[in-house]
Formats: sequence, structure tokens, C-alpha cells
Amino acid sequence: MASRPNSSFPSTSTSTSTSSSSSSFRLLLLLTLLPLTLAFFAFLLQWRDVPTDSIPLSSDSFHIPYLDHPFSGRRSASDCVDVLGQSRTPVFPYFKDWNFNFGSDLRPKGVKVINRTKELDEQQAKSRIWNETWLSKFFYKPCNYELFVNQSLNMEVAIVMSRDAGMDWIIHLDTDELIHPAGAREYSVRQLLADVPEDVDTVIFPNYESSVERDDIKEPFTEVSMFKKNYDHLPKYVYFGNYKVATHGNPNYFITYGNGKSAARIQDHLRPNGAHRWHNYMKRPKYGKASLFKCTTFMPKHFFGGPKGKKAHEIKLDEAAVLHYTYTKFSDLTSRRDRCGCKPTKEDVKRCFMLEFDRSAFIIASTATEEEMRRWYRDHVVWNNKALNLKLLKWGVFTRIYSPMAIIQGLRESGVFSSVVQSARVILSQDKSSSVESSNSSSNKPGTVSSRTGEESQATVRRILEINDKFSGDSAIPPLPPPVLDDFTLEYNKRLDS
Ligand SMILES: *[C@@H]1O[C@H](CO)[C@@H](O)[C@H](O)[C@H]1NC(C)=O
Ligand SMILES: *[C@@H]1O[C@H](CO)[C@@H](O)[C@H](O)[C@H]1NC(C)=O
Ligand SMILES: *[C@@H]1O[C@H](CO)[C@@H](O)[C@H](O)[C@H]1NC(C)=O
Ligand SMILES: *[C@@H]1O[C@H](CO)[C@@H](O)[C@H](O)[C@H]1NC(C)=O
Repeated sequence: MASRPNSSFPSTSTSTSTSSSSSSFRLLLLLTLLPLTLAFFAFLLQWRDVPTDSIPLSSDSFHIPYLDHPFSGRRSASDCVDVLGQSRTPVFPYFKDWNFNFGSDLRPKGVKVINRTKELDEQQAKSRIWNETWLSKFFYKPCNYELFVNQSLNMEVAIVMSRDAGMDWIIHLDTDELIHPAGAREYSVRQLLADVPEDVDTVIFPNYESSVERDDIKEPFTEVSMFKKNYDHLPKYVYFGNYKVATHGNPNYFITYGNGKSAARIQDHLRPNGAHRWHNYMKRPKYGKASLFKCTTFMPKHFFGGPKGKKAHEIKLDEAAVLHYTYTKFSDLTSRRDRCGCKPTKEDVKRCFMLEFDRSAFIIASTATEEEMRRWYRDHVVWNNKALNLKLLKWGVFTRIYSPMAIIQGLRESGVFSSVVQSARVILSQDKSSSVESSNSSSNKPGTVSSRTGEESQATVRRILEINDKFSGDSAIPPLPPPVLDDFTLEYNKRLDS
């Protein structure tokens, strides 16, 4: 494998099902920066409550409607409406009249979009990762495997660019993910990362998964508010105690990955370790006491190898999360199907997808009628049983998160968001046409790697401990399902029930 062969597969696409949508680098960067920008706006909004010189102090400035002559009748009906936050257009009165001060320039600041060019392709074809073993079992396979390699290649390029731009941290997010910087003093990613102890090299954001309550969602970021919390943020007995109801008849607790995403401090010898983790060529891992158990959960053994001496320090965040909006639209079923050229058989879909749910979804979307598909979607993805949802909300398995909705609505009112989305659309549509071209130009698939991967991916569904073994040795960390309820726990629960 000296250099990267002209690799495009018959079934190429720019998108996936594990992480959905595009892998193109510009979107990667755009969406890496969008959440940061959003969080920054949230931060600004909080400032707005502090009286500053910029807020004119009229005689009414300190008028507090609740306290001021409550029975005097001085309050007009419109005051009441404002107090109750039911004034006209904005659903979130907090943002009313807020001026983002963008003036006429509505382009987002600090967002850099990288176009996929021939030069970029050539650069990536020469990447060091083609010579290394940790990613090799993902090479020359279709769909999600190819996407996984593309993501890693993009991460490599992004490391260099971030370094040149003097960035402190790097994180890889997909187009259907947002960062939820809970636990920071302000709702700000910048603040969150600034508070990470200096000796920490990487921080893991456990992911929360969208749980849609309707089958007609159009704009996930502004319509979805219910999320299933990650194993890492739940007491074990709550997780395993609710495991069966929470899986909703699907193969796993989450429909797609459960191993979060990590952010890395920019430093020497950094490399991606697949789309979910970072790795340092020159450091082996070291864990804080509190995090030892949690962090080893998905760690491959080779993390314990590495040169003696220097150690990389990885922690898991206790409150912050990545919000993963997956299969939020009914049309996601068909759009994912159309991007992958596997046969809809149990065996063949393993070549295309790493996660069980993606495989089932692909088979359904390829073989069922529209009506059956709709029914399948309602049964497996949509949470429309209010009583059950309330129960899981009470347990804390589900949680409501409205901040992305609120922020995006604020941005939309200021016009910033639509300009970002529009520019992304323009790029996306160009991307599609170019990927059709390239997928036509070469369908020559070079030799395959190991045939073990299919079995291996399936085996990951078994147990947490097995996961460590299966992905031991020298392998990137793929999207992994969350911990599975094992026989022991089932037995234990049965006894609790009886
Ligand atoms: C991976 O990148 C190559 C080269 O840019 C592209 O042709 C291909 O469509 C991409 N595949 C996926 C699944 O994104
Ligand atoms: C990327 O592509 C867009 C759309 O064609 C173009 O407007 C923009 O100038 C390009 N950016 C760079 C850096 O080439
Ligand atoms: C990859 O390995 C080949 C053969 O050993 C070598 O010629 C090439 O320079 C290497 N490429 C990189 C980027 O390290
Ligand atoms: C793809 O290949 C077919 C057959 O070789 C050709 O007819 C078609 O024009 C090609 N499409 C593109 C976009 O290159």
C-alpha cells in the first residue's frame, strides 16, 4: 500500500449513516466552528443581563414589573403578556430585541470553509496514514468504512491547519452534531475548555442521542428537544434498570454510536484515532483516579503501549455532551439508502455499515414499501408514548435540552443562521455533483484488507469488556454501541423484579 490508489467505490457517497451527511472537509470545519459560534452567542446573551454602558439607562431601567405596585392596576395587559413571555413572534422572549450587531455583514465570523479541491485530494492521497496500521482495516471498503477513512484524513489536515492558525483545541463533529457545553460557568465551549486542567490532553464529550417524538421533523436542530443520556452520565442502576424500555426494540440502547467524541489539545505528535478519538504518537495514556474506570471503557489496549515516560491524559466530561441528531427525519431512511450500494441482505450490509441499526434501516429502506417504512420508523425511532417518555424523563434517562433551539432561533432572527445554512447548501450541492463525477471515474477496487472486520463489528455488540479485546492491538476506534445489558445484569434485574 505505498500510496493511495485511485479509490472511489461504485457506491461512493459523501455521506453516511452513522454520522449521516457529508464528510467533506469544509463542512467538517464549518460544523466544528458553528457550535463554537453558537455557544459564543449564548455567552454574549448572558452578558446582556448585566447592566452595561451600552444599555441606555432610562428612568424605567429598574422597573421590576412583579414588585412594582402589584395591585395598583398600573400594569397594562401588555406588561402581563411580556412578563409571561407570550409576546408576539419570538418563542424565546429572552432573545427579543437582541441585536447580534452584525450590521450588514451577515457572514459568520471565524468560520473557515475548506473547499475540496484536486490539491486536497492529492495531499490526502499522500497522507502518512496510508502507511500505518491503525486505520488499515477500514481501507478499501464502501460507505461507512470509506467515510471513516475520509474523516480521519480530514482530521489529519485539520490538525495542521489548526496549528498554523494558533488554535488551542481541536474537535471533530459531524453535520448532525452539536456541542452542549453544560457544566461550564457560562454556556460556552471556550469557557469549558479553558477550565480543563493543563495536564489534560484530551477530553471526551459523551454523546446524547436525539429521541424524536414525531415522524414529521423538518429541522432537527430547532424541533428536537428530547435526548437520551449517555451511559457515562447515568448511574449504572438507572442505565441497566431502564435498558430494555430504553432500547425500544432496537439492537442497542442508542440507535447509532455511544462512545462520544473527544477534543484534543493541539500539540506535537497528535493524530486522529478514528473519528471519535485522538491519539498521540509519543504519549501513552494516563488517567485521573476518578476517571480511570470510565476512560478505560472504550480504550484499545495499545493505548497502554506507547513510549515509556510521557503519558497522555484523557478525561471524560461529567456534564457536557455532544448532541447527536440521528435519524431525526423520516427521509433519513431513504437518503442513507441511496448513498450506499450494498445488497439488502444481512451478510452484504456488513460491508457497508458498522452498526446494527444502520444495517437494519438500510434493509428496510431497500425492501419495504413506503407505508411499511413509515410504520417501521414509527416503531423503532419515534417516541410517541407520552407515559413512557415521562417515565424515562423522571428517571433521567431522557432529558430535555432547549438551548440549541433557542440559540438557533436567535440566530435566525438576526439573519446569521440562514446565511450560514445557505452557504453550506451551495457547497453541498456542488459537492454532490463532484462526487458523482469522481465515483464514475474509477470503480477499481484495490485488494481488500482483513475479512475479519465484519465479524468483529458484530462482536462489539456483546459486552463492554469484549469491546476492549476486539479493538485491541493497533486499531482506530470506530463508532461503538453503548454498553449492552449482559446476562448477568438481566438475571440481576429479574431477581429485583420478583
Ligand atoms: C471519500 O473521499 C473521496 C475523495 O475525496 C471521495 O471521492 C469519496 O466520495 C469520499 N467517500 C465518502 C463516503 O465520503
Ligand atoms: C470555495 O467555493 C465557494 C463556492 O464555489 C467559493 O465561493 C469560495 O470562494 C471557495 N473558497 C476558496 C477558499 O477557494
Ligand atoms: C509510505 O511508505 C512508502 C514505502 O515504504 C514510502 O515510499 C513513502 O514515502 C511513505 N509515505 C509516507 C507519507 O510516509
Ligand atoms: C459515468 O459513466 C457513464 C458510462 O461510462 C457515462 O455515460 C456517464 O456520462 C458518466 N457520468 C459522469 C458524471 O461522468
